[in-house]
Amino acid sequence: MKLIHALIITTFGCSVSRAVTTATPKECFATTEDRIKNLQPCSTTTDSQETWTLNLDCEPLQAIDGFGAAWTDATTFLFDQLSESDQDKLMTDLFTTKGIGMEFMRMTIGQSDLTPDSRWSFDENDGLPDKDLSNWSLTEQGERMRKWILRMGDYNPDILLLGSQWSPPGWMKQNNNLRWEFRDSYVQYFVNFLQAYITVGIELDAITLQNEPLHTAPLSGEAWTMFMDSEYAAILSNATFEAIRREGLSTKIWAYDHNTDHPEYPQYVMDNSPSVDTVAWHCYGGGFSPLKDFAAANPGVKQYMTECWLHETSGEGFFDLPQFIMRPIQNGASGSLAWTLAGSVDLDVSYPGGCEQCTGIVQVNQKVADYELTGDYYKLGQFSKFVRKGARYLHVDGDYVWDDGTGVESAAFVNTDGSTVIVIMNKFQDDLTVTLGGVDGGDVVGVVQGRSVTTWLL
Ligand SMILES: *[C@@H]1O[C@H](CO)[C@@H](O)[C@H](O)[C@H]1NC(C)=O
Ligand SMILES: *[C@@H]1O[C@H](CO)[C@@H](O)[C@H](O)[C@H]1NC(C)=O
Repeated sequence: MKLIHALIITTFGCSVSRAVTTATPKECFATTEDRIKNLQPCSTTTDSQETWTLNLDCEPLQAIDGFGAAWTDATTFLFDQLSESDQDKLMTDLFTTKGIGMEFMRMTIGQSDLTPDSRWSFDENDGLPDKDLSNWSLTEQGERMRKWILRMGDYNPDILLLGSQWSPPGWMKQNNNLRWEFRDSYVQYFVNFLQAYITVGIELDAITLQNEPLHTAPLSGEAWTMFMDSEYAAILSNATFEAIRREGLSTKIWAYDHNTDHPEYPQYVMDNSPSVDTVAWHCYGGGFSPLKDFAAANPGVKQYMTECWLHETSGEGFFDLPQFIMRPIQNGASGSLAWTLAGSVDLDVSYPGGCEQCTGIVQVNQKVADYELTGDYYKLGQFSKFVRKGARYLHVDGDYVWDDGTGVESAAFVNTDGSTVIVIMNKFQDDLTVTLGGVDGGDVVGVVQGRSVTTWLL
């Protein structure tokens, strides 16, 4: 399975042609805050006094590669506990369009803060230096991850796959920085990892060298963090890129993998490591407008929102997930990822000091070996099921959100088959009659339920 994609360019001109001047959407699907509707058909013709106007801009903008979530050790540990038939049902729900058909995924390389077992890496070597990596091995945890990534390929072999490292082996580090005398080992460590996947026929599309490189960890986080400044990142990106190409692999290196409040970091990496043309951003500081500025300063750059946490049982807002998908896209991103794919209903799968509140789009109950699809699963599906790889983003005029959080946000897309999709967040309690202008053949008018994420197929 080779997970490399060509960019598909569509020619497009809002090709929704109709005989009448006003029409209702062809299809409507909604997920509601009251959890009565979970990615289910909705009526667009119910009565509503409240109105809203949106206007579609037909100029196709950036291509979309997909939406999805992140595989962690916790995820694979939990999925392993399900019955074979539940596993099959779940993978169908996650990776085929019978379910939500996710097409962009992230995986941890080695341990993260969502590792339920003891500290591990591919060459922990009892803490002793192993410069030539003679004791490198995929290990049990690594085998488990690889098994699930392989399995994912059975359901969709064409998933954009990003691997991110949280920490190299302990012996490569001092004061949570890379020991520079081990930089060649560090590079080879990635090559060994990629080779272990090539062996079973998987080529990762991209890696980031360090998750959240500006994270200065508490001592408890030493197993799953490392600080790396932009200068080191540029040098190591160069070196790792060259080593990967020497092996004949085409995996790319994406820059940064951290918040948008320090765009100078990926800028430095791109300026000094010419092989890097893609930036991974997180959602925890800086908002998403820096993506727009970054694209303006770096024409042709690819950007993805690669991490935003789910915490459905501890104060996550209903619109958090649709916002962290929609807003990066509105600012130029080609995809967005939730952190994480699966968590435990008992919140007991994080590494000490790690994200105890993190939930997944799937929550597994270990006691009864069962799982549930969370509200976030359905909200993600409002995008991933209908906006398919190669779709182009279309800007919509008319979004507005008041200080009290009420309002409307939207994003439209044209798929490669010419079908047009709009996702609308109605942040009011009341239903809204939305008029969508700018569509060939006349306005599309329909009701969008209050407190819902709604997808119209035009
Ligand atoms: C090599 O790794 C194995 C586990 O994979 C470990 O038991 C052994 O102690 C390691 N060797 C050394 C020299 O530390
Ligand atoms: C990275 O490699 C390029 C040549 O491909 C070189 O121009 C640049 O100086 C290198 N950057 C660093 C930081 O080593």
